[in-house]
Amino acid sequence: MIIIDSPKAMRDWSLQQRAKGNSVGCVPTMGALHDGHLSLVKASVESCDATILTLFVNPAQFAPHEDFDQYPRTFESDCAKCQAAGVDVIYAPKASSMYPEHYATYVEVERLQEGLCGITRPHFFRGVATVVTKLFNATLPDKAFFGLKDGQQFTVIKRMARDLDMGIEVVGLPTVREADGLAMSSRNQYLSVEERTRALCISKALFAAEAAMAQGETNAKTILHAVKTTLAKDVDEIDYVSLVDGNEMTPVTTINGPVMLAVAAQLGNTRLIDNIRFEPNIPASVKPAREGSLSC
Ligand code: PAJ
Repeated sequence: MIIIDSPKAMRDWSLQQRAKGNSVGCVPTMGALHDGHLSLVKASVESCDATILTLFVNPAQFAPHEDFDQYPRTFESDCAKCQAAGVDVIYAPKASSMYPEHYATYVEVERLQEGLCGITRPHFFRGVATVVTKLFNATLPDKAFFGLKDGQQFTVIKRMARDLDMGIEVVGLPTVREADGLAMSSRNQYLSVEERTRALCISKALFAAEAAMAQGETNAKTILHAVKTTLAKDVDEIDYVSLVDGNEMTPVTTINGPVMLAVAAQLGNTRLIDNIRFEPNIPASVKPAREGSLSC
């Protein structure tokens, strides 16, 4: 495994792989790696000849009052995990090479970036779409792997890759959870023991809603009310609970296609997000054709 820190050296390495006929997989991360990240690495190693994990805490996706300085940086142990998982290259660019003086170019994905996390973090998806474009331009992957844990982010990036003709297959993989259901996140380490216990209500509320939907509940109001009631007992603040179309990220009132039920909530100083995706069993004969659907 090698570590590369300049976009040019990264691109040269990938061009060499491609010249040899090797397929390249890319796993973008901000480090502090856990089993959720490693599930993406595993999928890349299994389906591509070469795997690049990018490790960059991207200042452009944090607002000034957010946790950029505090964000966990665990480079040594991340390297060990990548080596053990079969990563070929860690691409860890410096902030100065990603955003040189007079940097002026940003990527935006209209509509999809506006709801859910886009409401309280209006800068966020512009920062993500921009950095992922730059990471793709440096790593030149055939496939890129993202977690459905960050469901809106996945949808934004998948649409961006399609709309900008990037020629990259954006693959979404299931959320990896702790044994008790809490979605793994680099930010879980901010939680106190007491907050960690209370955080469980998020996955519990989502699983209960999933069970209700599987049993035929289609009314968004009913589902949202139940989730909010469960969360209200244990979280300090609900940022949002939303039921949205799985592809367009727009609110739905009745479930009649793929949806995402998403939660963002505050526990102490920590903001956690989680979601589940659900697709009702509609007979093929009455199902409208949908781009992308839930094949991820
Ligand atoms: P980060 O939070 O480090 O996450 C990197 C990737 O790991 C994302 O695709 C995310 O969805 C995935 N991931 C995180 N927790 C997961 C879990 N419990 N199960 C499965 N996958 C999980 O997301 C980012 O970094 C950044 O925004 C980035 C895309 C790298 C751009 O800076």
